[in-house]
Amino acid sequence: MKKYGLFQYPQKESLSKKVFNEYFRKADINAIYEDIVIEPKDFDNKAEYYLESYEGVNVTVPFKQKVIKFVEPVEDAKEIGAVNCIYHNKGYNTDWKGFYNSLENVEIELPVLIIGAGGACKAILYTLFKKDIKEIILVNRTKEKAENLKKYFSDKLEIHIEPFENLKIVIKKVKTLINSTSIGMFGESFDFTDSDLSNITFIYDIVYNDTPLQQLAKKNNITCLDGKIFWYYQALENLKIWNIYQEDIFKKVFSDFQK
Ligand code: ATR
Repeated sequence: MKKYGLFQYPQKESLSKKVFNEYFRKADINAIYEDIVIEPKDFDNKAEYYLESYEGVNVTVPFKQKVIKFVEPVEDAKEIGAVNCIYHNKGYNTDWKGFYNSLENVEIELPVLIIGAGGACKAILYTLFKKDIKEIILVNRTKEKAENLKKYFSDKLEIHIEPFENLKIVIKKVKTLINSTSIGMFGESFDFTDSDLSNITFIYDIVYNDTPLQQLAKKNNITCLDGKIFWYYQALENLKIWNIYQEDIFKKVFSDFQK
């Protein structure tokens, strides 16, 4: 039996484990998908062992950047500086490709505001660069992290940083809002009102669960994509890389999980 797994810390209820295992069953693939919880202090000692024991690996918080030195990153993963999928020692970034493909039927109107400056934001910024959206407003609670991202992408994007306290002012000036933070995941929420969103035509909230922001978008008839859709599009890219993708079965398994 082949083994696949997700490097992570701390352990979270992962959609990957649930959906991939069901997919393996339905697609008659003799494999198992496991959570691989590694304490950050042990990562450098254990990474190679796990990489050898598993056929394919996904990587999430907080190891997407740390894992690069143990694999051979492909060009886009090198440019983004993060790897979230590994196969035969090659490191890929399927986050940006998944995010890109999930936007296929969406019109992104400018200006674009991104909230957050963590690992997920890096892949999103790279997607926008690939979509030829080169001017972005960035707001993050910790300003230094926004500044680091601005520097990192300085040859690709024009990033304007606004202070977190100005969020309610900035949001009135933009048409597209992307939330790349975990706000909404653990019960906290933005204090946006209907009128704050009156200019907005599209919201992408990368949080998995039904957040207050997503509910507000629906209430105001604003097109909204969520973290589950993002997950689906990056997940199918992983299956393609591992050579075990069967489109119809994966689509059906995922839609059953949506119910
Ligand atoms: P990921 O790799 O999933 O993006 P991360 O690197 O831990 O995760 O980044 C989480 C992002 O959510 C960061 O931008 C973080 O803001 P800080 O840089 O200030 O830490 C943001 N975030 C999480 N909880 C937040 C909260 N309650 N208020 C504001 N920002 C929050």
